[in-house]
Amino acid sequence: MATTQSTLNMMNFTAAVPATPTPSFDWRNGLPTLSSSMVTLRELRASDAKDLLASLGTAEVTRLISPPPPTVEGFEKFIAWTARQRAAGNSIAYGVTLKGSDTVVGLLQVRSLSGGFDIAEWGFALGSDFWGTGIFMDAAQLVLDFAFDVLGVHRMEAKAAVKNGRGNGALQKLGAVQEAVLRRSFLRNGVYLDQGYWTILCSTWRELRAVRTARIVH
Ligand SMILES: CC(C)(COP(=O)(O)OP(=O)(O)OC[C@H]1O[C@@H](n2cnc3c(N)ncnc32)[C@H](O)[C@@H]1OP(=O)(O)O)[C@@H](O)C(=O)NCCC(=O)NCCS
Repeated sequence: MATTQSTLNMMNFTAAVPATPTPSFDWRNGLPTLSSSMVTLRELRASDAKDLLASLGTAEVTRLISPPPPTVEGFEKFIAWTARQRAAGNSIAYGVTLKGSDTVVGLLQVRSLSGGFDIAEWGFALGSDFWGTGIFMDAAQLVLDFAFDVLGVHRMEAKAAVKNGRGNGALQKLGAVQEAVLRRSFLRNGVYLDQGYWTILCSTWRELRAVRTARIVH
């Protein structure tokens, strides 16, 4: 995906992150599964292609993002690519499954924008049946924890078409800050759209997490 394009780049997606990764742990060999009360995030498998197409291939989901592969075969290739990208240390992709089900209903991707992962960009999409349910926020928190704590991200960037109310709203709810509007930076259906340029710093994420955790404890 060109850096000026919108988030979901159909980059890539697997295993529970050890709270403290052991010294031998290397996510390039396979992503840890991440779990919360609502969702399980895991690496993608070729057999997820059909479900991904069904969830993410709809007009509603793709209206304001880079379009995903239009076929099951296209998604199979995309899934294979995500594994290669992870092994090369370039990007990661997590499939979102609901607790008690193995069907993938969403995708979150993080890719390195620097030599290491200190500066990274993320993108995401969820099947529209699950919008507004809290599933995205749950999944996003798991991926952001993984990115900041394990990948070593210092600054996480995201772009969302200004017209994308839910995308911008979700980023804002997570604590992202809109640093700029990238004017006419995303070509969708023959029209150049403005994009919000959102960032979350590791320090901010950790402060927000401490507040969240304190609320849960008390
Ligand atoms: C982006 C996405 C993953 C977010 O998941 P979601 O379940 O819709 O997100 P949430 O409902 O938790 O948060 C969206 C917020 O935006 C708010 N919002 C702001 N403007 C909105 C608008 N114009 N229309 C709808 N919601 C809007 C919602 O009210 C909600 O906030 P609330 O919980 O305080 O009410 C999902 O909408 C999606 O897959 N969209 C298509 C793909 C996409 O746009 N990806 C992101 C590219 S940046």
